[in-house]
Amino acid sequence: MSDAHKPLVFSGMQPTNTLHLGNYLGALRNWVKLQDQMPCIYCVVDMHAITADAGYAKPKELLTASREVTAAYIAAGVDPARSILFKQSDVGAHAELAWVFNCVARLGWMDRMTQFKEKSGKHKERSSVGLYTYPTLMAADILVYKATHVPVGEDQKQHLELARDIAQKFNNDYEAPDFFPQPEPLILGTATRVMSLRDGAKKMSKSDESDFSRINLTDDAEAISAKIKKARTDPNPLPEDIKGLEGRPEADNLFNIYAALAEVPKAELIARYAGQQFSGFKNDLAEIAVAKLTPIAAEMRRLLADPAEIDAILAAGAERAGAIAEPILQDVKKRVGFSA
Ligand code: AMP
Ligand code: TRP
Repeated sequence: MSDAHKPLVFSGMQPTNTLHLGNYLGALRNWVKLQDQMPCIYCVVDMHAITADAGYAKPKELLTASREVTAAYIAAGVDPARSILFKQSDVGAHAELAWVFNCVARLGWMDRMTQFKEKSGKHKERSSVGLYTYPTLMAADILVYKATHVPVGEDQKQHLELARDIAQKFNNDYEAPDFFPQPEPLILGTATRVMSLRDGAKKMSKSDESDFSRINLTDDAEAISAKIKKARTDPNPLPEDIKGLEGRPEADNLFNIYAALAEVPKAELIARYAGQQFSGFKNDLAEIAVAKLTPIAAEMRRLLADPAEIDAILAAGAERAGAIAEPILQDVKKRVGFSA
């Protein structure tokens, strides 16, 4: 990254279903902490949500989900007075820059995106074009603010690399060295990839059919405990050291979650439970998960009781976001030749 660019954080999540523990530990919690380090912009990416069938042609659900995700951000600790918190579709500059980026990015780059391959599955020809160009819109989200740091979970790393390639090609092709920064992914913490509670080889995900595979941020204490106690494990006692977690993905995942929630080093936890059975470990993990997560759910419920207040926060955020994005977009338009 060039020194010419001031540190600025940008990140976003899609308003689809409710958020889960993976979203919280992999992304949201880090967003909250970064507010103490640099200016932050956090976005509810509702335009991305209509790229998939889950969000498409469901207007009421989409609006509700956008409010819910906004409430989750705030309940987890995103402070709308300090950080800019807004909805993607409220700032037109994202879509305008995304079009330019569709013309900067090469098909060969897009064809390598593994998330498109996963999400489109066996029926690529039935996917929306938007699902395919999703990463160029994501690059526009970040670069329309010239953001430098992007806190996300590990699965978004490839999209960040694409954003860097787009920034660089734009800078080269339009002879504007250093115009866009090279945004860096911030993949922080011990739970950058939280796995399913039912299958240690699968990512914890919104789209898993089994609700027991994930802990939702809206789950109550009973549900959280039940899910942890039913989480898949193996028949062996808990390991003596970190090497003992090799080839034991379910146990490894539970240790990662515990370490992240308790904010203690994983090695320390392994030492604490060495040789014990899963049952006591799971009881303790359930207790800490309930203590950390149920206040967030309660705060979300409180906020959602007043949707007009959430809408007002988003409207104010959109105004602040637009004020940063608009001059950068105007500059792009001049460089591209859309305006003099
Ligand atoms: P998504 O749920 O795919 O819209 O992702 C929203 C954010 O949460 C992104 O920054 C992801 O990288 C992060 N995320 C999603 N699932 C997980 C997971 N299982 N573990 C860690 N981070 C995750
Ligand atoms: N693609 C991201 C995800 O699925 C969401 C997202 C959209 C995003 N635009 C972004 C994340 C810009 C960081 C920066 O999680």
